[in-house]
Amino acid sequence: MTFTLPELPYAYDALQPYMSKETLEYHHDKHHQAYVTNGNNLLKGTEFEGKSLEEIVKGSFGKNAPLFNNAGQHFNHIHFWKWMKPNGGGTKLPGALEKKINEDLGGLDKFKADFAAAGAGQFGSGWAWLSVKDGKLEISKTANGENPLVHGATPILGVDVWEHSYYIDYRNRRPDYLKAFVDNLINWEYVEELYSKAV
Ligand SMILES: [Fe+2]
Repeated sequence: MTFTLPELPYAYDALQPYMSKETLEYHHDKHHQAYVTNGNNLLKGTEFEGKSLEEIVKGSFGKNAPLFNNAGQHFNHIHFWKWMKPNGGGTKLPGALEKKINEDLGGLDKFKADFAAAGAGQFGSGWAWLSVKDGKLEISKTANGENPLVHGATPILGVDVWEHSYYIDYRNRRPDYLKAFVDNLINWEYVEELYSKAV
C-alpha cells in the first residue's frame, strides 16, 4: 500500500477557539503531508511494500528508523484528527468505556488529570496515550513517532504534544493545550469505537 493523506473530518475552523484554522492548516496540510510523502519514498524497495500500515509500523520499529518515524507519525495523525471533534470532551462517555475508566483508572476526572500530566511530562516531542493492554486500560507517553502498537498495546486515544500541534495557539503553554484537549476536543464516540474493537 502507499500512504495517502486523509481529509480532515471537519472544517479547518471547526475546532476554534481550542485549535485554530492556522494550526490545522499547518499541522494537517504540511506536517502530516510530509510524513506521507517521506514515508512513501522510504517504503520503496523495502520488504514492507504491500503491507498494511500497522504491519509497517510494527515491523519497521527498531529496524528502519527513518521509515518507522514517518509511518508511525502517519498512523498517529490519521487517528489524531478523528480523536477530536467540535464540541468534544464533556462528562458523559458512551457505552462501556466510562465503567472501564472507573475500574482501571479511578474515574474520568482522574483520567483527564493523569492523561494531561503524561502529555505535559513528555520531554520534547511525542504523544500521550490511552491504550488497551491485556484487557486493561493504561495511560502512557512516548517520544517522537513511537506509539503503543510497538509495545503490544492498542491505542484508543492519543494527543500530539509536538510543538507543531500547539505553538501557534498556546505558544509554550503545553498544559493549557492539554486541558483544552481533554475538556473540549476529545471525540469520545471514536474512542469508544476503538475500545469496542480492542476488547
Ligand atoms: Fe503532529
